[in-house]
Amino acid sequence: MSPALGTATRTIVTGALRAARSSSLCPGYAMPLAFTAVHGRNYASAATDAAEAIHQNAITHKDPSETSKSASFVQEYEPYCLTTYARPALILSHGKGCYIWDVEGQKYLDFTAGIAVNALGHGDEELAKIYYEQSLKMIHTSNLYYNEWTGPMCKLIIERTRATKGMQSASRVFVANSGTEANEAALKFARKYGKLTPGGGEHKYEVVSFYNSFHGRSMGSLSATPNPKYQKPFAPLVPGFKYATYNDIDGLDVITKNTCAVIIEPIQGEGGVYFATPEFITALRKKCDEVDAVLIFDEIQSGLGRSGYLWAHEAFPAEAQPDVLTMAKALGNGIPIGAVMVSERIAEAIKIGDHGTTFGGNPLATRVGHYVVDRLSTPEFLDEIKRKAEVFRSGLEQLKEKYPSVITEIRGTGLIWGIQLNRDPNPIIDAARQRGLLVISAGNNTVRIVPPLIIKEQEILEGIEILNSSFASV
Ligand SMILES: Cc1ncc(COP(=O)(O)O)c(C=O)c1O
Repeated sequence: MSPALGTATRTIVTGALRAARSSSLCPGYAMPLAFTAVHGRNYASAATDAAEAIHQNAITHKDPSETSKSASFVQEYEPYCLTTYARPALILSHGKGCYIWDVEGQKYLDFTAGIAVNALGHGDEELAKIYYEQSLKMIHTSNLYYNEWTGPMCKLIIERTRATKGMQSASRVFVANSGTEANEAALKFARKYGKLTPGGGEHKYEVVSFYNSFHGRSMGSLSATPNPKYQKPFAPLVPGFKYATYNDIDGLDVITKNTCAVIIEPIQGEGGVYFATPEFITALRKKCDEVDAVLIFDEIQSGLGRSGYLWAHEAFPAEAQPDVLTMAKALGNGIPIGAVMVSERIAEAIKIGDHGTTFGGNPLATRVGHYVVDRLSTPEFLDEIKRKAEVFRSGLEQLKEKYPSVITEIRGTGLIWGIQLNRDPNPIIDAARQRGLLVISAGNNTVRIVPPLIIKEQEILEGIEILNSSFASV
């Protein structure tokens, strides 16, 4: 990290971003502009070379070379791993708070939180004590017996949810191991409800989801994820899935008496950070009531504080609440866990033996979940997220003003942000990494930012400074 970036302050970002419209926050970047002005157009290419050299100098974190420890590690082990991800030869070894280190000793600011998972950051000492204590006591027993933590975690989730303006009908929780599994369970519960509800039956099995959504990769949740890239290689999918357009009220006609469930993300995360409008979600709730379809909110990415509310849907009108809510990601801060929260009406349709899991609800994961929910759901913690959102909003809007030929829109709330580009975001993501900042792509040409929820204002400013340097470099 360069000293200039290390000492980034609000003054630097807000003042300098404005002042630097003709130059950059990148130290020395004004030089090529001055150079061109003094020496005239003949020196333009020299100036471009100088700018390139300066941007190269801004690279503080070179990707590991072919002879590095990281490269030889990848060469040795990659042949044994099924290749389902394209990734740089970056081997992460440890983290603390919002920072991560690789095995070469390079330090990165983490704006990804393991894809919206590490809400409490890395290396949390309280969590470490919980892992230690609970793993000595008991990690797993199966669901053939009760344990000391599944019940308390479920109770806490229900209580904290009811204390919000969100799902007031929240009544019971089923614990699974991931987001996909939570959605899979929710879809099964809705199918069972559809068969049993008066006026329902064998015909009431259709599920409606929305274009640009992401609900997971197992056959049910994949069938609800209408992205040809994910679905096509695995066709045929589960029958009965239909799709509508997000925020298009007229398109809700696809929901009929044959629909048992509608599944929707209040904020589409993987899709590029898009928000359901209050009018749309209210119309959707009304339509589900008309045809007695279960409304499932997938809050796997948007939930547990990410939006500045415990649940993102708290921002909707009070009448637009779900019957079922799925959660995962932040719930375990990295320990795999997912859960489905249902209203009593849905719970009544589910009987012993209808669904199950070996690992789901184990005492380690649920004790962690209990601790995480307790910390994330306090009004003070959530208010802090709303405040930090404004730091992001202002910094990212200034970047948009500064790079209008690349950035077309900033979308976000709380600590989930999308920078919409008019081009492939990967060069920016690579440039940010080479300057010590991890960000991810989403949707169609979007740079997505989902940092740990404990991020400090100073760290947000540091990351925006690095993004500034990254945009200047492409
Ligand atoms: C909204 C949403 N639903 C479901 C999933 C799938 O969760 P998991 O990867 O834990 O199975 C994701 C993962 O990104 C998600 O963002």
